[in-house]
Amino acid sequence: MSKPKIVICMGSSCFARGNEKTVEACESFLAERGLKDEIDVDLGASLCTGHCAEGPVVVVDGKVYTHVDPLVMRDILEKIFPKKV
Ligand code: FES
Repeated sequence: MSKPKIVICMGSSCFARGNEKTVEACESFLAERGLKDEIDVDLGASLCTGHCAEGPVVVVDGKVYTHVDPLVMRDILEKIFPKKV
C-alpha cells in the first residue's frame, strides 16, 4: 500500500473554522493505531486551497473533503486504515 498523503488546510478560514482540532484528531488517531507520520502517512498542511466557502478542507490523495471536523477526519482515517481484528 502506498503511503496516503493527507494535507490539512491551515489557511486563515479553515484554521478559524477548526482545522487545528482536525490536526489534533489526526495525530491522536495515528498514535492510537501505532502509525507514524512520514512512515505510514504523509501528513502535511497547506495554505488556502481556494475552497474556503466549503471549509474546513482536507485533501487526501488529491481528493478534496469539505466541511471536515474531527469526527469526519476520523471517519476518513478509518477508511484508509481499517481496524485490524
Ligand atoms: S482557507 Fe482553507 S480553503 Fe481557504
